[in-house]
Amino acid sequence: MEVLIMAIKRIGVLTSGGDAPGMNPCVRAVVRTALYHGIECYGIRRGWHGLINGDVVKLDERSVSHIIDRGGTILFTARSKEFMTEEGQRKAVSTCKFLGLDGIIAIGGDGTFRGALALSKYGINVIGIPGTIDNDISCTNYCIGFDTAANTAIECIDKLRDTMQSHERCSVVEVMGRNAGYLAMYVGLAVGATAVLVPEEPVDFEKDVIEKIRQARLNGFTHYMIVVAEGAGSAAEIAAKIKDAIDLDPRVTVLGHIQRGGSPTGRDRVNATKMGYMAVEMLMEGKSNRIICTHDGGFTDVDISEGLSMKKGIQQMEVDVLAAMTGI
Ligand code: F6P
Repeated sequence: MEVLIMAIKRIGVLTSGGDAPGMNPCVRAVVRTALYHGIECYGIRRGWHGLINGDVVKLDERSVSHIIDRGGTILFTARSKEFMTEEGQRKAVSTCKFLGLDGIIAIGGDGTFRGALALSKYGINVIGIPGTIDNDISCTNYCIGFDTAANTAIECIDKLRDTMQSHERCSVVEVMGRNAGYLAMYVGLAVGATAVLVPEEPVDFEKDVIEKIRQARLNGFTHYMIVVAEGAGSAAEIAAKIKDAIDLDPRVTVLGHIQRGGSPTGRDRVNATKMGYMAVEMLMEGKSNRIICTHDGGFTDVDISEGLSMKKGIQQMEVDVLAAMTGI
């Protein structure tokens, strides 16, 4: 099929919502791809907030040097309430017109895409790239930042295990994810947790936690790792319930924002680079109002409102594997 290439001159790129390791390599890829095609690129700082206020900076090859290995986002990020209002959106449209932007690439999570959808209704071309450690964008099985966050959490929990093992203790570790349990489930499988609690799966505390600990103890284990997604409850409350039910005095660790930092893994860098490249090519093809998605290593795109209305759950296979791994 012949692809129509539009003559676009200038684009903007922004990062919005919670930052995710890999946003920087993605910004770099957008800038480098744009310049490769002779397109000017503006960095919009502090997400949609920056678009409302004209907080922009022109980016050249050098502005994105040595950021491929850096966590966070050089463009800063924010969650803008004003952008959710019609007035805020109109101000953002004025900035786009004033700067002569032919399109915007927005890297972030579902809040970012809701903003992109609003903007596209004013005729602004927007492409969304999924970047969130929560991995909770339903139209893609992978979001930039997830791999780095998971590896950070795994490294922390491996360290915890050393001291838990020495003291023959139980640890309850709270992992981020907002309302989703993708990160907790993945991390729980990777650390060989005794139990993993996620919001997507109903929890029978006696059966899913206490029985698992008892069973592990009967099998000769002397330390127990319980991983809790923040959306499934607080680690402190779960530890208190364990203490009430069984003769253990669990230690609580909330991993918190440490999971959002650090140098992006190779997987995050490469996916971010491919998605950034693809987003510019899509704008050049005249595409708008799309989210880039990846499945089984391949890349595709969907309409933003369609993508936002999709549902994905924890993979049944992960649930089954966890049951087998914690059932003895
Ligand atoms: O969406 C990313 C995320 O880190 C969630 O996992 C978490 O619930 C939330 O952001 C924390 O937000 P904030 O940085 O505003 O504390």
